[in-house]
Amino acid sequence: MGSPQPPPLAHVFRGTFVHSSRSEPMEILHEHLLGVDDSGTIVFLEQSDQQEQLAKKWGFRTSDIRELSNYEFFMPGMVDTHIHAPQYSFTGTRVDLPLLQWLTTYTFPTEAKYKDSDFAEEVYTRVVRRTLKNGTTTACYFATIYTDTSLLLAEILDKFGQRAFVGKVCMDVNDSVPQYKEITADSVRETERFVKELLEKKYPRVQPIITPRFGPSCTEDLLHALGNLAQAHDLHVQSHISENEEEIKVVEKMFPAYQNYTELYDKNKLLTSKTVMAHACHLSEEELKLFSLRGAAISHCPSSNFSLCSGILNVQMVLKHDVKLGLGTALGLDDVIGNFEVGKEFDALLINTKASDSPFDLFSADNFEDTVQKFLYLGDDRNISEVYVAGKQVVPFSSSV
Ligand code: GUN
Ligand code: FE
Repeated sequence: MGSPQPPPLAHVFRGTFVHSSRSEPMEILHEHLLGVDDSGTIVFLEQSDQQEQLAKKWGFRTSDIRELSNYEFFMPGMVDTHIHAPQYSFTGTRVDLPLLQWLTTYTFPTEAKYKDSDFAEEVYTRVVRRTLKNGTTTACYFATIYTDTSLLLAEILDKFGQRAFVGKVCMDVNDSVPQYKEITADSVRETERFVKELLEKKYPRVQPIITPRFGPSCTEDLLHALGNLAQAHDLHVQSHISENEEEIKVVEKMFPAYQNYTELYDKNKLLTSKTVMAHACHLSEEELKLFSLRGAAISHCPSSNFSLCSGILNVQMVLKHDVKLGLGTALGLDDVIGNFEVGKEFDALLINTKASDSPFDLFSADNFEDTVQKFLYLGDDRNISEVYVAGKQVVPFSSSV
C-alpha cells in the first residue's frame, strides 16, 4: 500500500515569486512552483524542475497549475499597522491644522457620526474595499467609541476577507467636543462587551485590540482598567505616542507623577510585546530602551507626520535601539504571514506589470529587479490583478459581497 494521498490543494501556481526572507531583503524566485492547501497554508515553494515529484506527493495534475506570464509575479500582501477606518471619509482633505486642533475641529466631530449604523456601514465598506483593492491584506484598525458600529466594521472585514485587528476607541476626556467622549466605567464595560462579542463571532482572521486613543484623551483610571483587561485576556494593544510636541506637554501636565509618556503606558500595563504605538516621533533614548525591553512596536506614519507637521521619526535611532518598527509589519504575525515560507498562510498579491492601464512603462533595458522596483515606486491598484488572504481570492471582489 502506498502512503495516503493528501487532500486536494486549493492552488498550485507556477512563475515568479518576490518576497523577503531572513537572509535576503528581496529574493526574486523565477520558475518556481507554490502550492496552497485548502486551509490557506503554503505547503511547498520549490523550483519548477521538482514538478514531477511534487505532483506525485501532492496529487495534482499539470492542468491544475496556474501559469503566470513572464510579466507577472506574486508578492506578499501588504500590512497596514495603523489606520483609522472612520477617517477614511475625509482622507485627502483637512490637513491644514496641527494635531490637537485637527482632532477637535475635524476628527472628533466626524467620528461622532459613527453612532449611525447606516453612515458607518457605507464608509466602513468603502475603506475595506479600497484598502483590499490596493493590496492591504492585513490592517490594524481604530474604529470609534461606539461599540455596535465597531462590531459592524469587524463584520464587514470578515465578509470581505481582510485579516485585521479592530479596536473600539476608548476616551473619557474631551473638553473640546464633549459629545464625543465616554464615562470611564462605560468605556471599560463597553470594551469588555466589544471584546466578548467579537470573540464570540469566531471570525477566523478578525481579532479585537485594546485601544486607548492616546494620553490626552484618557484618565489614569481608564488606562489602568484597559491595561488590566489587556493582561487578563492576553490581548493586543494599540495607541498613539509622542506624535507632536504640544501633545507631549499636555501629557506632562495631566500626568505629572510619570517620568515620561512611555512610562504612562508602561506602568498601566499597556506597553507589552503585543503593543503597537503610532507615530513616536519624539521619544527619548530612555523611552526607546523601554520599548525595546518590553518588545513593544512602533508604527511609523510618515505621511501623517508630514501632513500635520507633527515631527520626523528618526528611524535609524529606533533601529539602533532594536525596537520593532513597521510601516506595515511588526504586528506580531510574523510566524503566520509576511513571506512565502512553507507553513505560512498565503496572503499575496498577483502583480501584472503590463496591465493595460499600468501607470508606468517598461523598456527592454529593464531587468526583473527594475520591474519590481518600478511597481513598488510607481505602481498602484491597476497593477494588482488579484489579492489572496489565507489562500482565498478576495480581489476581484466576489459577487456575493
Ligand atoms: N492621536 C490621537 N488620535 C489621533 C488620530 O486620530 N490621528 C492621529 N494622527 N493622531 C492621533
Ligand atoms: Fe492614528
